[in-house]
Amino acid sequence: DVMKDVSGLKHLEKQLETVLDVPSVVIVPGDSDHNPEVKNEMGLACVQEMERCLKPESIIAVTGGTTLAAAAEIMHPLKKKALENVQFVSARGGLGEQVENQANTICAKMAEKAEASYHLLHVPDQLSEESYLTLIEEPSVQKSNQLLQSATMIIHGIGDAKTMALRRNSSQALLNKIDHEHAVAEAFGYYFDQDGRVVHKVKTIGMQLESLYDNRTVIAIAGGRSKARAIQAYFKKGPDSILITDEGAAEEILSLI
Ligand code: F6P
Repeated sequence: DVMKDVSGLKHLEKQLETVLDVPSVVIVPGDSDHNPEVKNEMGLACVQEMERCLKPESIIAVTGGTTLAAAAEIMHPLKKKALENVQFVSARGGLGEQVENQANTICAKMAEKAEASYHLLHVPDQLSEESYLTLIEEPSVQKSNQLLQSATMIIHGIGDAKTMALRRNSSQALLNKIDHEHAVAEAFGYYFDQDGRVVHKVKTIGMQLESLYDNRTVIAIAGGRSKARAIQAYFKKGPDSILITDEGAAEEILSLI
């Protein structure tokens, strides 16, 4: 019974807003761990939230991951809604993800489908001090920086710490650190413990975590029962956000408390 399902999810959304202390939660039915279609539904919900919050001249920063890739796939032209000069920008450089899951690929695809312009960040995400100081002088990198600083909206994924470190073929040293510091969540290239404390970050030209607390629209998109602990940990200190998740993650989060 569809009406009953919808009101059940609305109730779950309210519970999750309270438990996670997140201003707005949107839950789609199902569990993306078991059914990949559910990621498309989260993608659709993300596009709807974006359209609700967008204004002309918006600058949208995006990260990577398969969930964001689903949102990019489902994007449609924004022009109809008189959204002039909306721009997309990659929030991070190459994070060791497969190319289809990298911020740059997703940024370009989302912008193309939205019929908006985009600016990519063509640098490795993790940099030595020396490379950082050289690359930061590049005009294209300076433009990224300027766009990221003025971004009005940020769309990002959240992952399980260990899963992400392995997916990125991280060094043994980082894997050990993740174990020792009990990292459970990852977002943006930052790793967090269960209290939401940052236990690892890299020297990067991309968006800094602090920027998320700067009065912008932040949309986090992450689902699946396996991400429950990561989502819960990230929001311990997370910025005011719109969280788009699924029933699997939502139910598991509520069972953790
Ligand atoms: O690597 C980019 C990223 O957004 C991570 O910050 C995040 O943990 C992950 O992707 C989420 O990926 P997925 O949507 O595939 O679970």
